[in-house]
Amino acid sequence: MRVLVIGSGGREHAIAWRLVREDGVDEVLVAPGNGGTAGMQRVRNCPVGVDDLQGLVDLARTERVDLTIVGPEAPLAAGVVDRFQAAGLKCFGPSRNAAQLESSKLTAKRVMADAGVPTAEHWAFDRLEGALELIDSRPEGALVVKADGLAAGKGVFVCRTREEARSAVRQVLSDFGPAGKRAFIEEFIEGEELSFIALVDGEDVLPLASSQDHKARDDGDAGPNTGGMGAYSPAPLMDDALQRRILDEVMHPTVQQMARGYPDHRFTGFLYAGLMVTPAGEVSVLEFNCRLGDPETQPLLMRLRTPLSQLCLAALEGRLGECALEWDPRPALGVVMASGGYPGDYAKGHPISGALGDSDEVAVFHAGTVRSDTGELLTAGGRVLCVTALGSDLAEAQRTAYERVGRITWRDEFHRSDIGHRGLKR
Ligand code: AMP
Ligand code: GLY
Repeated sequence: MRVLVIGSGGREHAIAWRLVREDGVDEVLVAPGNGGTAGMQRVRNCPVGVDDLQGLVDLARTERVDLTIVGPEAPLAAGVVDRFQAAGLKCFGPSRNAAQLESSKLTAKRVMADAGVPTAEHWAFDRLEGALELIDSRPEGALVVKADGLAAGKGVFVCRTREEARSAVRQVLSDFGPAGKRAFIEEFIEGEELSFIALVDGEDVLPLASSQDHKARDDGDAGPNTGGMGAYSPAPLMDDALQRRILDEVMHPTVQQMARGYPDHRFTGFLYAGLMVTPAGEVSVLEFNCRLGDPETQPLLMRLRTPLSQLCLAALEGRLGECALEWDPRPALGVVMASGGYPGDYAKGHPISGALGDSDEVAVFHAGTVRSDTGELLTAGGRVLCVTALGSDLAEAQRTAYERVGRITWRDEFHRSDIGHRGLKR
């Protein structure tokens, strides 16, 4: 079987890494891929961008691709799955309509309200005046300001004061282009975050192992939000009762609402609920993503033993109810190594040096990297690598990952030094 992976991040490198280890997968194409997928056996980078939907369909046709897995949200929101389906090609992910669960916060809130899914109280504004009035009418304290559309994880501002909230609303409505046509203000929910990701076939929900991400840039979860600075799986916070609660209160009602409540919004693909678990043990949905998380996928796929390609095919045929998942019991932890300046401006093109090879316990997943004409590995993005390790326990996975991080370097490199701290405290 030949599988096409759409995307160029660490998540897509991890998907390709998993796929080439599966029986029945002969070759993996990655469009466009990165410097890491460029160096893999039985993997071929194809120079087609994630926004070139027709180019992707043509690639899958000419290369006789048997299955396509979509990594990032942008092509899903643009309707890549609809285009593949219309061409008679198997493509795992939600349709453009279903992907609105991520691409429009307003749609997500509406679905949750209709399905009775717990989420923060919110207000939406397309004009500054209304937003400022709302902020003034609230007691001084934490509010969260969000851009309505896709902003690569950077369109969210957790504000401690009214003044911070005012400035965040101004920024969303003026600096975010189409994603900031509307600003969202949300009540702040106290608690611990959890990533809950499942395969969905329109009807059945098959949860992956639990994971936790570190969204903030700096140690101690301080600094601006990023796409994610590190992750680990499983999350010690998760237990059977919490999983049951999330399935009953969040996942099943959402998938049912999508299938029954709206014409053409049936959800097939990876459904990722970003959750806050309150000190009282209640769950509240912060956001839905219609794809695998990055960097959660890196530790998750290091642990997954059931073939991912078979799971995607089963989901496309509506057979997820017959599937069960097997996991490596060892925890895995991934540390993101980033370019100085990220999530703001950063330089590119710095040579990367050090111990970049994989071993049994460590995989160095690439995100923003390219190979130069001479084969040299260069930085090419904000998040550059995600060094991911397995360990007999979370502490050992953390030690092994950081030991490897210490042997890789480039100019301006930075990483958090406390990935896993919440899990280790438990
Ligand atoms: P989102 O992209 O909506 O998940 O938001 C990014 C991050 O902002 C989350 O991972 C949380 O850390 C934080 N956040 C978002 N919404 C809330 C909220 N209502 N209460 C507390 N923190 C939030
Ligand atoms: N790690 C967060 C995300 O993928 O959105």
